[in-house]
Amino acid sequence: MAEQKTLQFHKPRLNGSIKVPGDKSISHRSIMLGAIAEGRTTVEGFLEGEDCLRTIEIFKQLGVSIERQGTNVTIDSPGIENWTTPSDELYAGNSGTTARLMLGILAGSNVSSVLTGDESLSKRPMKRVTIPLQSMGAKIVGAEDDEYLPLTVKGGELSGMTYHVPVASAQVKSAILFAGLRATGKTIVSEPAISRDHTERMFEQFGVSIETNGNTVTIEGGQTLQASSVKVPGDISSAAFFLAAAAMVENSCVEIVEVGLNPTRTGIIEVLRQMGAAIDVHEETGGRGESYGTIKVSKATLHGIEISGEIIPTLIDELPIIALLATQAEGTTIIKDAAELRVKETDRIAAVTTELKKLGASIEATPDGMIIHGPTPLKGTSMNSYGDHRLGMMAAIASLVADGEVIIEDPACIAVSYPNFFEHLTALVNNG
Ligand code: S3P
Repeated sequence: MAEQKTLQFHKPRLNGSIKVPGDKSISHRSIMLGAIAEGRTTVEGFLEGEDCLRTIEIFKQLGVSIERQGTNVTIDSPGIENWTTPSDELYAGNSGTTARLMLGILAGSNVSSVLTGDESLSKRPMKRVTIPLQSMGAKIVGAEDDEYLPLTVKGGELSGMTYHVPVASAQVKSAILFAGLRATGKTIVSEPAISRDHTERMFEQFGVSIETNGNTVTIEGGQTLQASSVKVPGDISSAAFFLAAAAMVENSCVEIVEVGLNPTRTGIIEVLRQMGAAIDVHEETGGRGESYGTIKVSKATLHGIEISGEIIPTLIDELPIIALLATQAEGTTIIKDAAELRVKETDRIAAVTTELKKLGASIEATPDGMIIHGPTPLKGTSMNSYGDHRLGMMAAIASLVADGEVIIEDPACIAVSYPNFFEHLTALVNNG
């Protein structure tokens, strides 16, 4: 039987300052670009989460030398032209980012390989990536019309193309840009709303020129990456759990330092502001690299809002914790245009609705979001994580506002993105 964790707090308050682990999206990309570039790339602040460790293991199988000491990583690569064909399957575990971005990278490499994943990842849609890649000439085949892992990729020549991604997805956009880097001619990708732009920013850091114009990104094929050094800021998607906790738990004030403030990721800050949270943001750097800074949130009276449209991609991974926050806000919160939640690590609309209802929340699922009426008192119960890290952390934060015990089923999945989550939770609550 899967492990459980029981949490119970009596009138807790959260106080203190923490630095959350490195950004998951940026950590993946630092290894990917470091492995494509010939020579030595160093990474500081790497996320030691299971998803990012999968990306490292895959590149080791491709003949890239990668040494990791905690959050410091050194990559010595022979360059994408000189990778070796792996003898085993490449296992992406639970990581959608690893799987989808690797498809774009492998398509334009010199190697043939088979990409696999765990049970959850093997049910997630891949055609959104295989269709555009195949139209660039990629040789990718798999079950059910190439929709699901395992997928066999035979690297080879690609041609640039113009493609409109039907849903805003950085994974799809990035896979196409990786393929575009190796293709002949120009590749132009546009999307309905701007998704996270870490790939574009890191390409520039590695000496590749990229043109961004509104929702359209253009890359000229055949450019060579220069090995670089990457500093990974804290993950705002991890910070979001404690920011939300501070906003709804009485007498709380939490500060998160050195956290990423890339504007394609900061929708949570906007939502906290609109809901009435006392929030202070101090940016330390700006410009084309990844900006970062300090966010401080204190408890305030919150009210419901509507969250829809272009802001959705900038907070897509924060919607589970935002839904919990909305249960403590006065009035109705409407989340729309977020059908993508249904194809994340689990169906997050169904899972969040079911689990928050168990706590006594007034929440209903819609095809593309949720409607939450608040405030409602929450009572302790047993909550399922569905093996999804963000559901596990939502359940843990719920224990701070629930009356009684919250039992989290299968909390181990939290290590996917936040291995020291419970230590930080204990540290912040004990400081109260
Ligand atoms: C990610 C993009 C998002 C996000 C995921 C990480 C990335 O997914 O949900 O956790 O690193 O590119 P989509 O691209 O499917 O929106």
